Amino acid sequence: MRTLIRHINCLVGVQDPKQPLRKEALAQLPSIKDAFLLLEDDVILRYGVMNALDLSASDVDQVIDAKDRFVLPAWCDSHTHLVFAATREEEFVDKLKGATYAEIAAKGGGILNSARKVQACSEDELFQGALLRLKAAILLGTGAMEIKSGYGLQTEAEIKMLRVIKRLKEQTPIPIRSNFLGAHAFPVEYKDDREGYLRLLIEEMLPRIAAEQLADYIDVFCERGFFSPDETSLILAAAAAHGLRPKIHANQLSVSGGVEVGVRHDALSVDHLECMDDAAIDCLSAADTIGTLLPGCSLFLRAPYAPARALIDSGAAIALASDFNPGSAPSYNMNLVVSLACTQMRLLPEESVNAATINGAFAMELADRVGSIAAGKKANLIFTKPMSSLAYLPYSFGENVVERVMINGKFYL
Ligand code: NIG
Ligand code: FE
Repeated sequence: MRTLIRHINCLVGVQDPKQPLRKEALAQLPSIKDAFLLLEDDVILRYGVMNALDLSASDVDQVIDAKDRFVLPAWCDSHTHLVFAATREEEFVDKLKGATYAEIAAKGGGILNSARKVQACSEDELFQGALLRLKAAILLGTGAMEIKSGYGLQTEAEIKMLRVIKRLKEQTPIPIRSNFLGAHAFPVEYKDDREGYLRLLIEEMLPRIAAEQLADYIDVFCERGFFSPDETSLILAAAAAHGLRPKIHANQLSVSGGVEVGVRHDALSVDHLECMDDAAIDCLSAADTIGTLLPGCSLFLRAPYAPARALIDSGAAIALASDFNPGSAPSYNMNLVVSLACTQMRLLPEESVNAATINGAFAMELADRVGSIAAGKKANLIFTKPMSSLAYLPYSFGENVVERVMINGKFYL
């Protein structure tokens, strides 16, 4: 079936880079004004300026008028914790009243709170909750997503989360990547036996997860008070033996050595990066590893933002993602993420859109399928409301400028 989208005010992200965009290239967002886009079933066939359109309505099966609208590649959200059993707004209110992170943790809060709830929840309930959130995220413009486990912290519960992600892959229309985050926190029962939990992760969980092909990547929360760089290194080496490449949490709360350990293990991405010294920036800028920045988490925690400008200027490849999770970033709204990247981290609109689309696609090894407007790529597209310029999107923060979302060539409802 042929679909013609015509009179597009501006077709954004017309490119097909073979590597993540860096430096000046990140600020280039090739676009076509007054454009058409032709689809064959679920993929992009070709595009151009309206003046050069050589087809009439009768040559195609469907015509969509996009007058005054911008059409963009859908967001590629490369870091989420979409699967969880319950939200944690009671901790949020406690924190507003002055409770510290340590007090909340002492009451069994935080990641361990989410883990108890996931352990008690059936796979089906977890799936239904995650599916609702995923549908809502797609309606806000997300057209590809990475999803982590990490709220199980026991073999069966981690596997349950990964099976839920597998079902989401099978039953939803967007590409999804699965990331095994058993090393998210040390469970209470292993508080004084860290080696015991590392053994469980390496000798029991990893082999089963690899055998069932439940994960595409391995994640570790490399942070003071969580997993040290040495512990992270052990886990990443064991995962590599099962063919799992790292995408890890690094340098969120301190200059943890997470960037260096990730780069040493050829991580696809190191994520967070709120706390960076010169050595960590230099290490990342010289590497293939992508730095994934999560400004929604900084907003929600009133924490510092990652030094995005220094990272870009040094030549590092950066992506933007939501970090959607019930503790530190309860929002999957990538439009807000793109806006925060501009207002709080001083990215230009073009840089921000590139980081949230094509570079996010690279951070999931999906850039051959999504993340830009190119022949052969999936027609996963955002249609905005009428807008006068691309900058209106990050400028009008909090407004939902996404009018419709197309997934695989069909409007998503
Ligand atoms: O990416 N930093 C570690 N993990 C999550 C938060 C986990 C939670 O509080 O549930 C994050 O911010
Ligand atoms: Fe995270």
